[in-house]
Amino acid sequence: MPDQATDETTLFRQSWTLYDSISEMNYMFHREIYAQITTLLSQRRAIGPYSLLDLGCGNSRFIAPCLKAAKPSRYAGVDLSEAALAEAREYLGGLENVALHHQDMLQALQTTEASFDVIFSGYAVHHLDAKGKQDLFHACAAKLAPGGQFILVDVVREEGQTREHYLEGYLNFMRTQWTAVRPDHLEEACDHVAAYDFPETFSDLKSMASAASLTNVRLLDRFAQHHILVFSV
Ligand SMILES: C[S@@+](CC[C@H](N)C(=O)[O-])C[C@H]1O[C@@H](n2cnc3c(N)ncnc32)[C@H](O)[C@@H]1O
Repeated sequence: MPDQATDETTLFRQSWTLYDSISEMNYMFHREIYAQITTLLSQRRAIGPYSLLDLGCGNSRFIAPCLKAAKPSRYAGVDLSEAALAEAREYLGGLENVALHHQDMLQALQTTEASFDVIFSGYAVHHLDAKGKQDLFHACAAKLAPGGQFILVDVVREEGQTREHYLEGYLNFMRTQWTAVRPDHLEEACDHVAAYDFPETFSDLKSMASAASLTNVRLLDRFAQHHILVFSV
């Protein structure tokens, strides 16, 4: 992956601690959402050993406790940010069979020969354009083991809402609700969202998944624009 893409698609180059503090303050509902991820993974663990691929894992801070509660036989995390991956190594300490890859998630999916029982992605897929997301669904479908599921946590646009309208609402949400973030940091985060967030509507995501044979789709829950979706064959 070229360095330029590494730098441009992530908040983590200079401001890794900014995203970390935003998630620490639960402005993107990490607590509620990852509690449900623990439940999903525990249900999967109850039927047998499972492997998990985490696309855009960041520092794995929020998935780590879920993994510790429902231990996978193998965890692979993929991210463009070396700084985030360095922290992930710490958060994932104590878990066995952990591999972290400094790679583009689509490339990682398309080049791995392994298959996974669970493919997970938290707040990363909205960085891809529509074609990238469609390619990602195809690649996920190809790499899911029989009975596998793709769990997607991400921001989603309302039906019929344009990206511009979505951004207006989300930036307003950030500026009015993220009150503990320093004003200069808040503007940096707003700039990042305005430049790199390309969320789809739920029906567009369903169509993309369905085109990739992932026809079984569940909206597990949502907290404002932040959704938990589960796709399977
Ligand atoms: C907002 S953070 C989410 C981190 C974590 N998954 C969570 O739920 O909090 C998005 C992550 O996706 C990574 N990312 C963005 N585009 C990517 C791509 N094409 N391939 C791999 N990682 C990517 C960023 O580096 C960043 O670590």
